[in-house]
Amino acid sequence: MRTLPQLFENNRQWAETITKNQPDFFPTLSRQQSPNLLWIGCSDSRVPANEIVGLLPGELFVHRNVANLVVPSDMNGLSVIQYAVDVLKVRHIIVCGHYGCGGVRAAMEAPRHGLIDNWLGHIRALYHRQREELACIAEEKARVDRLCEINVMEQVKNTGNTTIVQDAWQRRQPLVIHGWMYSISNGLLKDLGLSIASSEELEESRDRGK
Ligand code: CO
Repeated sequence: MRTLPQLFENNRQWAETITKNQPDFFPTLSRQQSPNLLWIGCSDSRVPANEIVGLLPGELFVHRNVANLVVPSDMNGLSVIQYAVDVLKVRHIIVCGHYGCGGVRAAMEAPRHGLIDNWLGHIRALYHRQREELACIAEEKARVDRLCEINVMEQVKNTGNTTIVQDAWQRRQPLVIHGWMYSISNGLLKDLGLSIASSEELEESRDRGK
């Protein structure tokens, strides 16, 4: 089939339901967006940002890529962060990873996945740095899950180290970066407990080696 009629039917029903509950929802939204939150998550189809946290259109600014990476040379990711921080003035940036991430798992394997290995190289470097800690975990699945967590913590730091966030903190703009994990098997979020709200806190987290 060349077209996807079911999706248009779903869409029509979705818009109708929202409009029924709140007739001015779309007209109001069309005039502006003022989300408080930036979500940086994985592209995985099982981790849909808005649904997980129960937020409607207009409430969450979203960037997703394979394995939720924040890479200082990635213009796409940086542009999203800049727009969110400088223009929308979001108060929170949530880096949300998930257990069993295929990108993280692939980075732990021999590099034979094609183009994507260039992207996953960022996690592979992290894997090698944390090899000793990870080697103590006997079960493979648990090893992958631990690297998923370590990856989120690393991306929180990468976000904090961007010139965009550093400048925001310097001008005293309120901005907290969070590291969360999502469990595909039960649908629940977990806070990794490293909410960072200033350059000083970022330094402290580095000292703790977290
Ligand atoms: Co993933």
